[in-house]
Amino acid sequence: MPTYAHRVDTFGTTIFTEINVLAQQYNAINLGQGKPDFDAPADVVAQVVQALQSGYQNQYAPGPGVPSLRKAVADHVARFYQLDIDPARGVIVTSGATEGILASVLGLVDPGDEVIVIEPCYDSYVPSIIMAHAVPVYVPLHPPTWNFDPDELRAAFSKKTRALILNTPQNPTGRIYTREELMLIAELCIEHDVTVICDEVYEHLTFAGAQHIPLATLPGMFERTVTISSSGKTFNATGWKIGWVYGHPDLVEGVARAHQFITFAVHHPTQEAIAYALALPDTYFQDFRAMYEGKLALLRSALDGCGLKYVAPQGTYFVMTDYSDLFDGTPTEFAYYLTKEIGVACIPPETFYSAEHLHIGSNYVRFSFCKSDEMLLGAKERLAKLRK
Ligand SMILES: Cc1ncc(COP(=O)(O)O)c(C=O)c1O
Repeated sequence: MPTYAHRVDTFGTTIFTEINVLAQQYNAINLGQGKPDFDAPADVVAQVVQALQSGYQNQYAPGPGVPSLRKAVADHVARFYQLDIDPARGVIVTSGATEGILASVLGLVDPGDEVIVIEPCYDSYVPSIIMAHAVPVYVPLHPPTWNFDPDELRAAFSKKTRALILNTPQNPTGRIYTREELMLIAELCIEHDVTVICDEVYEHLTFAGAQHIPLATLPGMFERTVTISSSGKTFNATGWKIGWVYGHPDLVEGVARAHQFITFAVHHPTQEAIAYALALPDTYFQDFRAMYEGKLALLRSALDGCGLKYVAPQGTYFVMTDYSDLFDGTPTEFAYYLTKEIGVACIPPETFYSAEHLHIGSNYVRFSFCKSDEMLLGAKERLAKLRK
């Protein structure tokens, strides 16, 4: 009987689906998946409606993205990071950052090449590498502060290293790499002639004055980095799946060649709306950050009240917490216990790790705080039972 390809042998059903089903079954407050339970800004939604009704934006968009959005990406990058990007040859629009990551790996990495991944990490990186018939090489972040060991990073580079996937601000740890850490990554990538695929989808989610530094702004890095971002996080619109990749035209050309045969083009009316959204004044981005500072404070008070240990995240909307003082068992067992008995759902970190480094996260689960204040306050009340 025909069956599926070996390439997908290791791709199981994601834990997110499993936890969502369980949370629903037990009526738990779901702090699992990083999916806001509040809406995109009304004026941005209105732009989609207007584009839908305009009568000329319901057909295929240009494959690399609509000119207005590519220009808006270049303007946004110039406004926030002083990078000079060519909107015509240096930006392409993808179906979310997830397609941007796959298209980057397929367009920039050959079969048999090694790709360095810093873990725990977003769960599409390794499947993207596997689908490109390349080889992932893992470098762990070490809790509780989630730093990489410079010697471990250095040792991961070999003659076969073609690319490194970096994520800053980092899901699931909430780390924002410092300039010193980025300088070391840059030095090693330049020394070994390595391309960087830099996932910066949480670029506007930074806390307590932490500064997000795009790797492409470091000396010598622009020509070897493609940067990926998305409207999902910054505009509470994860369902729209509008992402983009920008960088040196020679690299973006490789990504664009893969993209044209993955999706060809992405949703046209929404691209017009995101072009509008990216041009919102600085106050939008400041208010957005302040809203999340408030949500982080609510989750922290819930965690402090129940004895779950954590190091405050510098960015993203996730907190990794250490439950070892409260529960004896694996992260999945703890996540099931918390969902069924306490009524709060979280994500065990197995999905973010290779087998090699899974033990490092063996006392941790991830909570998301992209949720209404009511939900976060409800979670605080329920989590208080944990200490008792
Ligand atoms: C680090 C990281 N990259 C990419 C994505 C996916 O972005 P998109 O929804 O735009 O595909 C996520 C979503 O959680 C993420 O955490």
